[in-house]
Amino acid sequence: MECFENYSSLRQFIQLSKMAGKSIGFVPTMGFLHAGHLSLLREARLACDVVVCSIYVNPTQFNEVKDLQAYPRDVKRDLTLLEKEGCDAVYLPSNEDIYPGGIDQLTLGFTFGPLEKVMEGKHRPGHFNGVAQVIPRLFHQVQPDKAYFGQKDLQQCRIVECLVRDLGFDVQIEVCGIVREEDGLAMSSRNVRLDARQRKLAPVLYQTLQRAEKQLQQYQRLDEVINDCVAWIQQYPEFTLEYFEIVDKDSLQPLQGYQAESKLAVCLAAHLGTARLIDNLIVDIA
Ligand code: PAJ
Repeated sequence: MECFENYSSLRQFIQLSKMAGKSIGFVPTMGFLHAGHLSLLREARLACDVVVCSIYVNPTQFNEVKDLQAYPRDVKRDLTLLEKEGCDAVYLPSNEDIYPGGIDQLTLGFTFGPLEKVMEGKHRPGHFNGVAQVIPRLFHQVQPDKAYFGQKDLQQCRIVECLVRDLGFDVQIEVCGIVREEDGLAMSSRNVRLDARQRKLAPVLYQTLQRAEKQLQQYQRLDEVINDCVAWIQQYPEFTLEYFEIVDKDSLQPLQGYQAESKLAVCLAAHLGTARLIDNLIVDIA
Protein backbone atom coordinates (compact mmCIF):
# COMPACT_ATOMS: atom_id res chain seq x y z
CA MET A 1 0.00 0.00 0.00
CA GLU A 2 1.30 3.41 -0.95
CA CYS A 3 0.77 6.52 1.14
CA PHE A 4 0.62 10.00 -0.39
CA GLU A 5 0.79 13.00 1.88
CA ASN A 6 0.25 15.62 -0.80
CA TYR A 7 -1.31 15.98 -4.21
CA SER A 8 1.92 16.21 -6.18
CA SER A 9 2.96 12.74 -4.97
CA LEU A 10 -0.51 11.27 -5.60
CA ARG A 11 -0.66 12.71 -9.11
CA GLN A 12 2.03 10.44 -10.53
CA PHE A 13 0.37 7.34 -9.08
CA ILE A 14 -2.96 8.32 -10.67
CA GLN A 15 -1.34 9.08 -14.02
CA LEU A 16 0.46 5.73 -14.08
CA SER A 17 -2.72 3.86 -13.15
CA LYS A 18 -4.66 5.64 -15.91
CA MET A 19 -1.92 4.95 -18.47
CA ALA A 20 -2.00 1.27 -17.55
CA GLY A 21 -5.75 1.32 -18.29
CA LYS A 22 -6.69 0.47 -14.68
CA SER A 23 -10.06 1.41 -13.23
CA ILE A 24 -9.93 3.47 -10.04
CA GLY A 25 -12.31 2.93 -7.12
CA PHE A 26 -12.34 5.74 -4.56
CA VAL A 27 -13.50 5.81 -0.93
CA PRO A 28 -13.38 9.30 0.62
CA THR A 29 -13.33 9.32 4.44
CA MET A 30 -12.49 11.48 7.43
CA GLY A 31 -10.61 8.61 9.07
CA PHE A 32 -11.01 6.88 12.45
CA LEU A 33 -12.14 3.97 10.33
CA HIS A 34 -14.62 1.33 11.37
CA ALA A 35 -16.31 -1.64 9.71
CA GLY A 36 -18.72 0.72 7.88
CA HIS A 37 -15.84 2.43 6.07
CA LEU A 38 -14.17 -0.92 5.42
CA SER A 39 -17.33 -2.28 3.77
CA LEU A 40 -17.00 0.50 1.17
CA LEU A 41 -13.37 -0.47 0.63
CA ARG A 42 -14.40 -4.07 0.10
CA GLU A 43 -17.00 -3.11 -2.52
CA ALA A 44 -14.39 -1.01 -4.32
CA ARG A 45 -11.88 -3.86 -4.14
CA LEU A 46 -14.37 -6.22 -5.81
CA ALA A 47 -15.18 -3.87 -8.69
CA CYS A 48 -12.01 -1.88 -9.46
CA ASP A 49 -8.36 -2.52 -10.38
CA VAL A 50 -6.97 0.15 -8.08
CA VAL A 51 -8.50 1.22 -4.75
CA VAL A 52 -7.75 4.67 -3.34
CA CYS A 53 -8.93 5.83 0.09
CA SER A 54 -8.60 9.42 1.27
CA ILE A 55 -8.43 10.49 4.89
CA TYR A 56 -9.10 14.18 5.37
CA VAL A 57 -11.03 15.83 8.17
CA ASN A 58 -12.61 18.56 6.08
CA PRO A 59 -12.87 21.69 8.22
CA THR A 60 -15.46 23.46 6.05
CA GLN A 61 -18.18 20.87 6.65
CA PHE A 62 -18.15 21.22 10.44
CA ASN A 63 -20.69 23.58 11.98
CA GLU A 64 -18.84 23.95 15.25
CA VAL A 65 -15.12 24.41 15.87
CA LYS A 66 -15.55 22.26 18.99
CA ASP A 67 -16.84 19.34 16.92
CA LEU A 68 -13.94 19.70 14.47
CA GLN A 69 -11.37 19.80 17.25
CA ALA A 70 -12.93 16.83 19.05
CA TYR A 71 -13.22 14.73 15.86
CA PRO A 72 -11.45 11.43 16.66
CA ARG A 73 -8.24 10.72 14.73
CA ASP A 74 -5.86 7.75 14.61
CA VAL A 75 -4.10 7.63 11.26
CA LYS A 76 -1.68 4.89 12.28
CA ARG A 77 -4.51 2.53 13.13
CA ASP A 78 -6.38 3.56 9.96
CA LEU A 79 -3.37 2.66 7.81
CA THR A 80 -3.12 -0.79 9.38
CA LEU A 81 -6.82 -1.44 8.70
CA LEU A 82 -6.54 -0.20 5.11
CA GLU A 83 -3.52 -2.34 4.42
CA LYS A 84 -5.42 -5.39 5.68
CA GLU A 85 -8.33 -4.59 3.35
CA GLY A 86 -6.02 -4.58 0.35
CA CYS A 87 -6.21 -0.84 -0.29
CA ASP A 88 -3.65 0.24 -2.92
CA ALA A 89 -3.21 3.91 -2.09
CA VAL A 90 -4.06 6.22 0.79
CA TYR A 91 -4.29 9.94 0.14
CA LEU A 92 -3.73 12.17 3.18
CA PRO A 93 -4.00 15.66 1.72
CA SER A 94 -3.06 18.80 3.62
CA ASN A 95 -5.39 21.81 3.83
CA GLU A 96 -3.26 23.43 1.09
CA ASP A 97 -3.89 20.50 -1.25
CA ILE A 98 -7.66 20.86 -0.87
CA TYR A 99 -7.94 24.62 -0.30
CA PRO A 100 -5.03 26.16 -2.25
CA GLY A 101 -6.59 29.62 -1.94
CA GLY A 102 -6.90 29.30 1.86
CA ILE A 103 -9.89 28.11 3.86
CA ASP A 104 -10.86 31.65 4.88
CA GLN A 105 -10.77 32.85 1.29
CA LEU A 106 -13.38 30.51 -0.21
CA THR A 107 -15.30 32.15 -3.02
CA LEU A 108 -17.14 29.18 -4.53
CA GLY A 109 -20.48 28.42 -2.95
CA PHE A 110 -23.02 25.66 -3.59
CA THR A 111 -26.74 25.54 -2.94
CA PHE A 112 -28.93 22.52 -3.50
CA GLY A 113 -32.48 23.91 -3.48
CA PRO A 114 -35.10 21.81 -1.65
CA LEU A 115 -32.56 19.03 -1.03
CA GLU A 116 -30.63 21.17 1.44
CA LYS A 117 -33.70 22.64 3.14
CA VAL A 118 -34.53 19.41 4.99
CA MET A 119 -32.96 17.24 7.71
CA GLU A 120 -29.15 17.56 7.83
CA GLY A 121 -29.20 20.60 5.52
CA LYS A 122 -31.75 22.36 7.70
CA HIS A 123 -30.10 21.52 11.02
CA ARG A 124 -26.48 21.92 9.95
CA PRO A 125 -26.41 25.11 7.87
CA GLY A 126 -23.38 25.23 5.59
CA HIS A 127 -22.56 21.56 6.11
CA PHE A 128 -23.36 20.45 2.57
CA ASN A 129 -21.64 23.48 1.08
CA GLY A 130 -18.54 22.19 2.91
CA VAL A 131 -19.04 18.66 1.54
CA ALA A 132 -19.53 20.18 -1.91
CA GLN A 133 -16.20 22.00 -1.62
CA VAL A 134 -14.15 18.92 -0.85
CA ILE A 135 -15.73 16.23 -3.04
CA PRO A 136 -15.11 17.87 -6.45
CA ARG A 137 -11.51 18.67 -5.49
CA LEU A 138 -10.93 15.05 -4.45
CA PHE A 139 -12.61 13.77 -7.63
CA HIS A 140 -10.38 16.02 -9.78
CA GLN A 141 -7.28 14.76 -7.98
CA VAL A 142 -8.11 11.04 -7.70
CA GLN A 143 -9.99 10.79 -11.03
CA PRO A 144 -12.05 7.77 -9.95
CA ASP A 145 -14.22 5.66 -12.22
CA LYS A 146 -16.39 4.72 -9.25
CA ALA A 147 -16.74 6.39 -5.85
CA TYR A 148 -18.25 4.69 -2.81
CA PHE A 149 -20.51 6.35 -0.24
CA GLY A 150 -22.58 5.01 2.67
CA GLN A 151 -26.37 5.11 2.92
CA LYS A 152 -25.72 6.05 6.56
CA ASP A 153 -25.36 9.60 5.20
CA LEU A 154 -28.26 9.32 2.77
CA GLN A 155 -28.59 13.05 2.17
CA GLN A 156 -24.86 13.32 1.50
CA CYS A 157 -25.28 10.61 -1.18
CA ARG A 158 -27.99 12.68 -2.88
CA ILE A 159 -25.84 15.83 -2.68
CA VAL A 160 -22.90 13.99 -4.26
CA GLU A 161 -25.15 12.59 -7.00
CA CYS A 162 -26.30 16.14 -7.67
CA LEU A 163 -22.69 17.40 -7.87
CA VAL A 164 -21.70 14.62 -10.25
CA ARG A 165 -24.67 15.39 -12.52
CA ASP A 166 -24.40 19.18 -12.50
CA LEU A 167 -20.60 19.46 -12.65
CA GLY A 168 -20.37 16.73 -15.28
CA PHE A 169 -18.08 14.29 -13.49
CA ASP A 170 -17.63 10.96 -15.25
CA VAL A 171 -17.83 9.07 -11.95
CA GLN A 172 -20.27 6.36 -11.00
CA ILE A 173 -21.57 6.78 -7.46
CA GLU A 174 -22.11 3.56 -5.54
CA VAL A 175 -24.25 3.74 -2.40
CA CYS A 176 -23.49 0.97 0.11
CA GLY A 177 -25.72 -0.29 2.95
CA ILE A 178 -25.41 0.72 6.61
CA VAL A 179 -23.10 -1.43 8.72
CA ARG A 180 -24.41 -1.81 12.27
CA GLU A 181 -23.13 -3.03 15.62
CA GLU A 182 -24.66 -6.29 16.82
CA ASP A 183 -27.31 -4.42 18.78
CA GLY A 184 -28.32 -2.36 15.74
CA LEU A 185 -26.49 0.91 16.41
CA ALA A 186 -25.23 2.30 13.11
CA MET A 187 -21.44 2.43 13.17
CA SER A 188 -20.02 5.92 13.33
CA SER A 189 -16.66 7.46 14.21
CA ARG A 190 -18.58 9.63 16.69
CA ASN A 191 -19.86 6.63 18.69
CA VAL A 192 -16.66 6.74 20.78
CA ARG A 193 -18.11 9.84 22.45
CA LEU A 194 -20.83 7.73 24.12
CA ASP A 195 -20.22 6.64 27.69
CA ALA A 196 -21.19 3.10 28.74
CA ARG A 197 -24.75 4.05 29.76
CA GLN A 198 -25.38 6.07 26.60
CA ARG A 199 -23.93 3.30 24.45
CA LYS A 200 -26.42 0.86 25.94
CA LEU A 201 -29.29 3.22 25.19
CA ALA A 202 -28.20 4.19 21.67
CA PRO A 203 -29.81 1.19 19.82
CA VAL A 204 -33.23 2.67 20.72
CA LEU A 205 -32.80 4.82 17.60
CA TYR A 206 -32.57 1.87 15.22
CA GLN A 207 -35.36 0.08 17.12
CA THR A 208 -37.53 3.14 16.52
CA LEU A 209 -36.76 3.05 12.78
CA GLN A 210 -37.84 -0.59 12.76
CA ARG A 211 -40.97 0.34 14.69
CA ALA A 212 -41.78 2.91 11.99
CA GLU A 213 -41.13 0.34 9.26
CA LYS A 214 -43.58 -2.09 10.80
CA GLN A 215 -46.28 0.54 11.13
CA LEU A 216 -45.75 1.76 7.57
CA GLN A 217 -46.05 -1.78 6.27
CA GLN A 218 -49.39 -1.94 8.10
CA TYR A 219 -50.47 1.12 6.09
CA GLN A 220 -50.67 3.52 9.02
CA ARG A 221 -50.88 7.24 8.32
CA LEU A 222 -47.47 8.89 8.14
CA ASP A 223 -48.27 11.59 10.72
CA GLU A 224 -49.46 8.92 13.15
CA VAL A 225 -46.27 6.94 12.66
CA ILE A 226 -44.17 10.04 13.24
CA ASN A 227 -46.11 11.01 16.38
CA ASP A 228 -45.82 7.50 17.79
CA CYS A 229 -42.08 7.24 17.08
CA VAL A 230 -41.27 10.70 18.41
CA ALA A 231 -43.17 9.86 21.62
CA TRP A 232 -41.32 6.53 21.80
CA ILE A 233 -37.91 8.22 21.69
CA GLN A 234 -39.05 10.93 24.09
CA GLN A 235 -39.67 8.27 26.76
CA TYR A 236 -35.89 8.42 27.12
CA PRO A 237 -35.00 11.90 28.36
CA GLU A 238 -31.31 11.25 27.57
CA PHE A 239 -32.07 11.77 23.86
CA THR A 240 -32.65 15.18 22.36
CA LEU A 241 -34.39 14.45 19.09
CA GLU A 242 -33.48 16.88 16.32
CA TYR A 243 -35.74 15.47 13.61
CA PHE A 244 -37.70 12.36 12.73
CA GLU A 245 -38.90 12.42 9.13
CA ILE A 246 -40.54 10.13 6.62
CA VAL A 247 -39.36 11.21 3.18
CA ASP A 248 -39.25 10.12 -0.44
CA LYS A 249 -36.02 8.12 -0.64
CA ASP A 250 -34.88 9.92 -3.80
CA SER A 251 -35.95 13.56 -3.37
CA LEU A 252 -35.72 13.33 0.46
CA GLN A 253 -38.76 15.61 0.68
CA PRO A 254 -41.20 14.91 3.53
CA LEU A 255 -44.29 12.90 2.65
CA GLN A 256 -47.77 13.26 4.05
CA GLY A 257 -50.99 11.27 4.36
CA TYR A 258 -50.71 7.54 3.81
CA GLN A 259 -47.64 5.83 2.42
CA ALA A 260 -46.92 6.95 -1.11
CA GLU A 261 -46.22 4.56 -3.94
CA SER A 262 -42.57 5.48 -3.99
CA LYS A 263 -40.11 3.94 -1.61
CA LEU A 264 -39.82 5.75 1.69
CA ALA A 265 -36.89 6.54 3.90
CA VAL A 266 -37.32 7.07 7.61
CA CYS A 267 -34.56 9.37 8.85
CA LEU A 268 -33.62 10.72 12.24
CA ALA A 269 -31.00 12.70 14.12
CA ALA A 270 -30.67 12.82 17.89
CA HIS A 271 -28.18 14.06 20.43
CA LEU A 272 -27.09 11.64 23.12
CA GLY A 273 -24.59 13.15 25.55
CA THR A 274 -22.02 14.95 23.39
CA ALA A 275 -22.63 12.73 20.34
CA ARG A 276 -24.97 13.62 17.51
CA LEU A 277 -26.27 10.39 15.97
CA ILE A 278 -28.00 9.96 12.62
CA ASP A 279 -29.62 6.89 11.15
CA ASN A 280 -32.11 5.92 8.47
CA LEU A 281 -34.01 2.98 7.05
CA ILE A 282 -35.34 2.60 3.52
CA VAL A 283 -38.78 1.03 3.70
CA ASP A 284 -40.23 -0.97 0.88
CA ILE A 285 -43.99 -1.18 0.94
CA ALA A 286 -45.40 -4.00 -1.10
P1 PAJ B 1 -16.97 9.79 7.07
O1 PAJ B 1 -17.96 10.18 8.11
O2 PAJ B 1 -15.61 9.36 7.49
O3 PAJ B 1 -17.60 8.65 6.19
C1 PAJ B 1 -16.97 8.16 5.05
C2 PAJ B 1 -17.94 7.27 4.31
O4 PAJ B 1 -18.27 6.14 5.12
C3 PAJ B 1 -19.26 7.99 3.98
O5 PAJ B 1 -19.67 7.71 2.67
C4 PAJ B 1 -20.21 7.42 5.02
O6 PAJ B 1 -21.57 7.44 4.63
C5 PAJ B 1 -19.68 5.99 5.15
N1 PAJ B 1 -20.13 5.39 6.41
C6 PAJ B 1 -20.07 5.92 7.65
N2 PAJ B 1 -20.64 5.09 8.56
C7 PAJ B 1 -21.08 4.01 7.87
C8 PAJ B 1 -21.76 2.80 8.24
N3 PAJ B 1 -22.10 2.54 9.50
N4 PAJ B 1 -22.03 1.90 7.27
C9 PAJ B 1 -21.69 2.15 5.97
N5 PAJ B 1 -21.06 3.27 5.57
C10 PAJ B 1 -20.75 4.19 6.49
O7 PAJ B 1 -18.86 11.16 5.19
C11 PAJ B 1 -17.75 11.64 5.35
O8 PAJ B 1 -16.74 11.02 6.05
C12 PAJ B 1 -17.34 12.98 4.74
O9 PAJ B 1 -18.48 13.79 4.67
C13 PAJ B 1 -16.68 12.87 3.35
C14 PAJ B 1 -17.59 12.18 2.34
C15 PAJ B 1 -15.35 12.10 3.45
C16 PAJ B 1 -16.35 14.29 2.82
O10 PAJ B 1 -15.54 14.98 3.70
